[in-house]
Amino acid sequence: MDAKIYNEIIKEYENKRNKALDEAKKFKESVFEKSPELSKFEKEIASLTISSMKKNLTASKVEREIENQNLEIKVKEIQEKINEKIEKLGYKKEDFEPKFECEKCKDTGYNGKNKCSCLKQKILNRVYSQFYMENFDEECFHTFDFGYFSDKVNEEKYGSKKSPRENILEIKAISEKFCSSIENKKEKNLLFIGDTGLGKTFLSNCIAGEVIKGGYTAIYQTAPMLMDMITEYKTSFDKDSKVKEKYNQLFEVDLLIIDDLGTETNTDFKFMELLNIINTRIIKGKKIVISTNLSLQKLYNLYDARLTSRLIGNFNICKFFGEDVRIIKKRISV
Ligand SMILES: Nc1ncnc2c1ncn2[C@@H]1O[C@H](COP(=O)(O)OP(=O)(O)OP(=O)(O)O)[C@@H](O)[C@H]1O
Ligand SMILES: [Mg+2]
Ligand SMILES: [Zn+2]
Repeated sequence: MDAKIYNEIIKEYENKRNKALDEAKKFKESVFEKSPELSKFEKEIASLTISSMKKNLTASKVEREIENQNLEIKVKEIQEKINEKIEKLGYKKEDFEPKFECEKCKDTGYNGKNKCSCLKQKILNRVYSQFYMENFDEECFHTFDFGYFSDKVNEEKYGSKKSPRENILEIKAISEKFCSSIENKKEKNLLFIGDTGLGKTFLSNCIAGEVIKGGYTAIYQTAPMLMDMITEYKTSFDKDSKVKEKYNQLFEVDLLIIDDLGTETNTDFKFMELLNIINTRIIKGKKIVISTNLSLQKLYNLYDARLTSRLIGNFNICKFFGEDVRIIKKRISV
């Protein structure tokens, strides 16, 4: 990948890791300063360690081993006293631990030699300029509000015996199950079908946030963005590493979200590419979420049987219905 981008990200990791360590250190100092007893324990550990090091300088190997064991026991005893005292003061042991953004890699970006999923996602966000993927606080399962969906059945209008609320809660449950089954190759992909303002993008965001939180990677692209990117890759002569990596990630990323399918300007070439991505991912068992305003019939007319048969065979089709949430929100705010 682009070395400049990589170095910038690594620098960010160093900064946030140092900040977490520094804050933990400062917190500890502020507590220990206020307690003479705790300071005394700390000093005891320090002096024990120093004298043990001194002894070790002239000791034989066996003597060193014994010395180290003794030191370990003594330090552990004092540490226990420290913990007791801390508890008495009303703190928990965890209060003194650094608060890393990612507990898995402790904000180093690596687990051993492997890139942590958080670093992989950071790189994707940068490569795809998808900075909205850094924060899902607003659109996540916690902020999901079924209040926008009526609990009245209207079969005539929506062609369903379920109320919009029952329906959206069912789709939410399917989505949550999908998030916990990212690695399960038998779990179907998701196709969100429905009119505008019914929460398709909202739920895609809920899913993206949850999947990333679970330690996987995700790319979100609207169909037009995706097609432009693919065209750029296919038509560039010298495929520089950046464009190539971007393209390859469409096949590698754990979850690919394609929003607004059917709004892109279509050509045979683009369609074949889209089909290729969907096909390859299905074969690899890698997950896809697709959203569209078009019905299956319209998708069939716009593309053809090759796409629609794959959608029907490999996707769990979720039909959204109800009132446009954007309009409800506007009504509430005036
Ligand atoms: N379940 C929900 N809880 C809270 N807010 C919601 C929910 N569903 C949708 N919204 C809000 O309603 C608005 C419209 O939702 P969204 O953009 O997801 O619709 P959409 O189905 O993707 O529409 P379009 O087809 O036009 O892209 C957004 O502001 C979104 O935050
Ligand atoms: Mg949308
Ligand atoms: Zn991490």
